[in-house]
Amino acid sequence: MPVTILIGAQWGDEGKGRVVDDYAARADIVARYNGGDNAGHTIVAEGRTLALHLVPSGILYPQVVNLIGAGTVVNPLRLLEEIAMLEAAGIPAGPDRIKLAAAAHLILPTHRALDGAHESRLAGRAIGTTQRGIGPAYADKAARINLRAGQMRDPDAFAEAVEALLHTHNAYLEKLYGLPKADIPQAVAALRQAAQQLAPYLVDGAQWVAQALAQGKQLLCEGAQGTLLDLDHGTYPYVTSSSTIAGGALTGLGFGPGAVQAVIGVAKAYTTRVGAGPFPTELLDETGERLRRIGHEYGTTTGRPRRCGWLDAVILRYAAQVNGLTGLALTKLDVLSGLPELKIAVAYDYHGERVEHFPAEWGSALLAEMTPIYETLPGWQEDLSLIRRREDLPAAAQVYLQRIEALTGVPIVFIGVGPDREAFIR
Ligand code: GDP
Ligand code: IMO
Ligand code: MG
Repeated sequence: MPVTILIGAQWGDEGKGRVVDDYAARADIVARYNGGDNAGHTIVAEGRTLALHLVPSGILYPQVVNLIGAGTVVNPLRLLEEIAMLEAAGIPAGPDRIKLAAAAHLILPTHRALDGAHESRLAGRAIGTTQRGIGPAYADKAARINLRAGQMRDPDAFAEAVEALLHTHNAYLEKLYGLPKADIPQAVAALRQAAQQLAPYLVDGAQWVAQALAQGKQLLCEGAQGTLLDLDHGTYPYVTSSSTIAGGALTGLGFGPGAVQAVIGVAKAYTTRVGAGPFPTELLDETGERLRRIGHEYGTTTGRPRRCGWLDAVILRYAAQVNGLTGLALTKLDVLSGLPELKIAVAYDYHGERVEHFPAEWGSALLAEMTPIYETLPGWQEDLSLIRRREDLPAAAQVYLQRIEALTGVPIVFIGVGPDREAFIR
């Protein structure tokens, strides 16, 4: 069974990019199946730092072909910028290395404007989106009025369809939000030109995947965002607008569940979140500040400081359940070095009642009333960044890992001890 699905087990930014970069060494295809350029996946390799937003994290391996699948939303202008960035860095990013599914949906400049407009209107209840137009593009997809990547194959018809949708968006911007309208001729010209440049990248995504699987190729599915940002199973409404969980790989790429061999959940050794919404183990004190400082917890896409807190085993158990995790990749263990003691949330307290299960379906308001019940473990002082065997970790770090495995029922199959490609234990 040739498919591995790799997903974020928390609220995103778990280090998916760097773990995919490791798994990609043994893959033929790396495919993004959800989200768009709201994602920011960092790879530190060969002495440089690469931040990818749309292009899958297999791009550094010459043998890997990188698919942007049907379930994604793609801003053509941003994709071209990313391709240019890669080429400038000496990383080939032509149509032989990157494929764009014809069924992927497009993000227009007006989707971005509408994203900002919706957020402003929500005022104090804003989601804190990345303002990349993700929500409005998926909304148009569900409303069946959006444009798909495949339409870029016919530039004239595409330009006409873009113009029609821009008129609709302008009506929203002007009449609903009282905002300036987009310059339609300028947007159409830019998108028409982008279409010509991107047309060679187009494929029938599901058919392309089916052929590859029939040839015995190894497919690695790269999730964007994280389990708790899933539109259905996350902390709604403080979520993104796509299926971030393992099931999203099947719908977002178009293959059956029988092909799936492994589902790897990537989690940080603590918890972070960008944007608004409840976060039971959030630390608003010096320890939270320290995690942010040592862990460089600032958004890859927006530069916003990430909210930081203790590891939450209630969340990881939930992620194991909704994704069917077969393994955990735990990143940033090195960041915890130097703390006198560590806490792990093992359950929540809800007005005196002990809650073991993450209550995502009951909504964010209920979750906000829950306080974590912690277990305290000893910390360690040693620098972990050069350790390459689990048994060489300080005893307290080994206890921490064993406790996570016991609390989640999932084996830890990858341990990150630094941002560099080599800094891990498998
Ligand atoms: P993604 O969105 O899940 O791919 O994660 P991001 O790239 O947005 O954020 C993860 C950050 O942590 C990046 O800056 C990585 O370079 C960094 N990182 C990943 N793994 C480790 C690790 O094991 N230790 C340390 N110190 N940093 C890591
Ligand atoms: P990666 O793939 C962390 C968050 C935003 C906001 C919410 C909705 O790098 O892990 P959106 O722009 O998607 O409508 O924003 O989701 N968010 C992320 N948080 N990592 C991400 O991606 C994210 N993508 C979106 O901060 O709270
Ligand atoms: Mg990220």
